[in-house]
Amino acid sequence: MKPLTITTITVLPGKARDGSREAFGEITIHAGDMISIVGPTGSGKTAFINDIEVFACNDTVTGRTILVNGEVPPDEMVRDPAKKPIALITQNTKCLADLTVQAFLEMHVKARRIPDENRTAETIALANEFTGEKIRGEMRMTSLSGGQTRSLLIADAVAVSSAPIILLDEVESGGIFKENVIASLKKNNKAVLFVTHDPLLALLSDRRIVMRNGAVESILEPGGREKRILARISELDGFLSRMREKIRAGELLDGEVPIL
Ligand SMILES: Nc1ncnc2c1ncn2[C@@H]1O[C@H](COP(=O)(O)OP(=O)(O)OP(=O)(O)O)[C@@H](O)[C@H]1O
Ligand SMILES: [Mg+2]
Repeated sequence: MKPLTITTITVLPGKARDGSREAFGEITIHAGDMISIVGPTGSGKTAFINDIEVFACNDTVTGRTILVNGEVPPDEMVRDPAKKPIALITQNTKCLADLTVQAFLEMHVKARRIPDENRTAETIALANEFTGEKIRGEMRMTSLSGGQTRSLLIADAVAVSSAPIILLDEVESGGIFKENVIASLKKNNKAVLFVTHDPLLALLSDRRIVMRNGAVESILEPGGREKRILARISELDGFLSRMREKIRAGELLDGEVPIL
């Protein structure tokens, strides 16, 4: 059977924690969309992206329903991991297989029947665009740091799984070059939803879903209105990254002039 091409994912409203109905009509996600999900701790951000991951059908705590191309998705898309068009990467994503990075990627490339000998090297190179601590093929998956693991799994989702929809649950960490990840996902025309507390990441998205009390409270579409503050936050973020690297390298920051 020909794989189904996904043109849209639609989220239909469910219920807040107090049982009241969510106040949005529907949220439609297209290829290339960058959507951030923000809100206080416990407000339902993870539950929102999990609903998408499992193609909720009024069968999760939130009561939301997810449609693919405007319809309830076919069973095989929901059940067959090889046909799943969604990659979910969380902070706790761990690889339990005690393989080298090279062997892990080769296994995945083979399982996906990709006739391309360079794909594993390309995937490692892509992951290394995201992380400061370089990954090498002979490293063991279990020895990678959190930032390295998340970078590799994002690169794997882009270059090997070719998942058109990527869900990221607070994957930012000091070791990941956030802007490179977003730029790469954009370049590959992925639909990306990411939960974040990071102002730079939040401002790099086109739409911000604001969660409260288990429900979508509002959907912000800043357009160009946050452009100036984005430039400033990007500058500050770069400054903080440089300071972080220096601290890691054991340097004293006595020569630094704050940019505020
Ligand atoms: N609409 C809802 N109705 C009932 N329970 C909900 C709803 N949304 C979320 N929950 C539950 O509330 C709890 C907290 O939600 P969740 O983990 O999604 O919060 P979060 O915003 O991701 O928090 P954190 O910032 O700490 O990661 C979970 O147990 C989740 O199942
Ligand atoms: Mg969460």
